[in-house]
Amino acid sequence: MNYNKKTIEDIDVSGKKVLVRCDFNVPIKDGVITSDKRIVGAIPTIKYLMEHNAKVILCSHMGKPKGEVNMKYTLAPVAARLAELLGANVPLAKDTVGPDAKALAANLKEGEVMLLENTRFDKREEKNDPEFAKELASLAEIFVSDAFGAVHRAHASTAGVAAYLPAVCGYLIQKEISVMGKALENPARPFVAILGGAKVSDKIGVINNLIEKVDTLVIGGGMAYTFFKAKGNSVGTSICEYDKLDMAKEMMDKARERGVNFLLPVDNIIGREYKEDTTFMRIYSDSIPDGWMGLDIGDKTQELFAKSIQGAGTIVWNGPMGVSEWKNFATGTESVAKAVAESGAVSIIGGGDSAEAVERLGFADKMTHISTGGGASLEFLEGKELPGIACLLDK
Ligand code: 3PG
Repeated sequence: MNYNKKTIEDIDVSGKKVLVRCDFNVPIKDGVITSDKRIVGAIPTIKYLMEHNAKVILCSHMGKPKGEVNMKYTLAPVAARLAELLGANVPLAKDTVGPDAKALAANLKEGEVMLLENTRFDKREEKNDPEFAKELASLAEIFVSDAFGAVHRAHASTAGVAAYLPAVCGYLIQKEISVMGKALENPARPFVAILGGAKVSDKIGVINNLIEKVDTLVIGGGMAYTFFKAKGNSVGTSICEYDKLDMAKEMMDKARERGVNFLLPVDNIIGREYKEDTTFMRIYSDSIPDGWMGLDIGDKTQELFAKSIQGAGTIVWNGPMGVSEWKNFATGTESVAKAVAESGAVSIIGGGDSAEAVERLGFADKMTHISTGGGASLEFLEGKELPGIACLLDK
């Protein structure tokens, strides 16, 4: 995949109507945004366009309204937050490509910004319907993609629209693809990948791609128990994907053949049940006794993982080491976050739970890059072609 894409700085935006696809799919509770990270992440691109006299038309999806207008998923709270962050009026169109959107877009002046209503209110969005893409495109003269979190979706507003307008990326996508692209193509070594989370099946593509590139592969979290089982160890009642044991064996063989240092937990914190207040204890073993389940890595493992992290040149981390939202099983994830923050390596945190842990623990500013994409950053690390990036103009 070519990561060298034209950006907003490579195209004259002055006086032009610019349609910017953002990922404003932010968490909202009772109408209040609980994390505005994705909105803040889009601000540099929007400001650049405003300062360069573009007429800025923002659009995004929110949630899964399934092609119906459902005001639970309105972008109104996003428009209000954008107005605060930009110090400018950000009118929200009542529709996406209907008469209100058209009228607002037609009257937009240079340096002004507006927001279209949720693109997923229209059934045609997720079908990547060319007519819908054409209607979106007809609002503008240039398309800017800055919705990294949604580039793995081949939808009308993320990819289809690029067929009808000159299409470039904004600063957010540019940063995501330059930092992560470099890590995959030309990493500072040793290159260490740390993968966690519950399921091997979610990470097969990532492991297969990274195993060809990394020097060390660290496996923690629930998925470690599938590898334990594949090695012939007992796993008690731990989460284990019995249908993935052959695959886990193949991955370990591949790591051995390629000389990749493959690290699994050597000790564990185990609990009786999958419950926050369950009875728990530490065992200095990589076999889980009957009637117990592994819920976090132990302290010897924390040391082992920290040692490989300390000498790294590049680190990619995706997925927690234990049930990090429960205090008794959060230490493994916290110790990895601390080790990565202190490593001095180029550190890339894939979105989701690991990004949340890094932020909660106050290490965010110590990381080189925290991806704004969950599914998108995983697919990027799998080496897949992402439709929302592939459609942009090459440099
Ligand atoms: C995300 O939150 O990962 C992106 O906004 C994509 O959302 P989706 O999974 O609903 O397509």
